Amino acid sequence: MALYSDKVMDHFQHPRNVGKMENADGIGEVGNAKCGDIMRMYIKVDKDTQVITDVKFNTFGCGSAIATSSMATELIKGKPITEALQLSNKAVVEALDGLPAHKIHCSVLAEEAVRAAVRDYYDKNGISYGDELKACEGHCETCGHDA
Ligand code: FES
Repeated sequence: MALYSDKVMDHFQHPRNVGKMENADGIGEVGNAKCGDIMRMYIKVDKDTQVITDVKFNTFGCGSAIATSSMATELIKGKPITEALQLSNKAVVEALDGLPAHKIHCSVLAEEAVRAAVRDYYDKNGISYGDELKACEGHCETCGHDA
């Protein structure tokens, strides 16, 4: 069996929503100290509906980090922020038809990047949020992620 699914290869070779977003409403940047990979996620939010209308990302990292960030953007685009916050790294991995065990941490980075972008949006707009969002700052001892 191939190490990587067709979907992982597809999102790695043809990543969706790549690039920098001018005038983003929220920007999240996270990194993994062990592998040195960095992911930056930009979101545009409709202030009336709190729906994420556009997403972009830049990832300086491995193929799995690129594939998971690409898939994460697809999964949250057009969704209400509250739904985007529910996005787990597991859901990203499932949507990609799996990742090798030693690459699961790459999907954690994608989940964290989404949360960091939402947190930045909340901060900029004076919207309060719970401890679970405060705790998740690019490491994840608090929520138990193997980051
Ligand atoms: Fe670091 Fe994939 S090896 S995010």
